[in-house]
Amino acid sequence: MFNIVIFGPPGSGKGTQSVRLKKKYGLVHLSTGDILRDALAKKTGLGVKAQEYMDKGELVPDEDVIGMLMKVLDENMNSNGFIFDGFPRTGKQALFLKENLEKRDTMIYALLTLDVEKEELIKRLIDRGKKTGRSDDKLSVIENRIKVYHDQTAPVIEFFRKMDKYYPVDGMGTIDEIFDRLCRVIEEVIK
Ligand code: AP5
Ligand code: MG
Repeated sequence: MFNIVIFGPPGSGKGTQSVRLKKKYGLVHLSTGDILRDALAKKTGLGVKAQEYMDKGELVPDEDVIGMLMKVLDENMNSNGFIFDGFPRTGKQALFLKENLEKRDTMIYALLTLDVEKEELIKRLIDRGKKTGRSDDKLSVIENRIKVYHDQTAPVIEFFRKMDKYYPVDGMGTIDEIFDRLCRVIEEVIK
């Protein structure tokens, strides 16, 4: 299996690039945000609980997200590998992922982080909010999501840096340009 994490602040392009990477490398795209929004649409117990956090731009508790991820992980262990998008988001989630992949005789090969300026993040998310009506794409919630990213999620970089698996990628520019940059890093890692 070949597993990677696509990482970065809200609006950095994780979802957009994952769709392309999934196609090119035949990987399973595992977006915890998408799974939670799906649970919310279906009004499951987890979805109803998660909404409270998502509407404020806060993180859903680790145990809920981890339980949900375990299930999807086990359902796809016969695949070529995973693109983790929006997970891990805390130190606890990072450790969980490392240990559980090791138990299954596999690992994360790279954490690819999309670096994007704050003004650009806000612009992209406000634009998306107008188009799709995603409920957490309004200015006050966007600002909090960015803050939560810096306070609680960015420290995950250190965890991967220590294992020599941290790859920063310039996330400014066109979708094609950024995709090329990501592919170049992946080709290096695969070698
Ligand atoms: P999640 O769904 O993961 O949202 P996010 O991290 O805030 O990121 P986004 O999905 O908003 O942005 P993205 O980086 O995917 O960018 P995109 O490609 O869409 O999480 C939502 C919530 O769920 C969290 O707040 C939390 O409550 C909960 N949650 C999820 N996972 C969790 C976890 N592990 N633990 C705890 N809680 C969790 O691009 C954004 C826009 O920009 C799009 O409109 C796109 O078309 C556009 N765009 C992309 N690239 C470019 C470009 N190069 N130029 C111009 N526009 C571009
Ligand atoms: Mg996304």
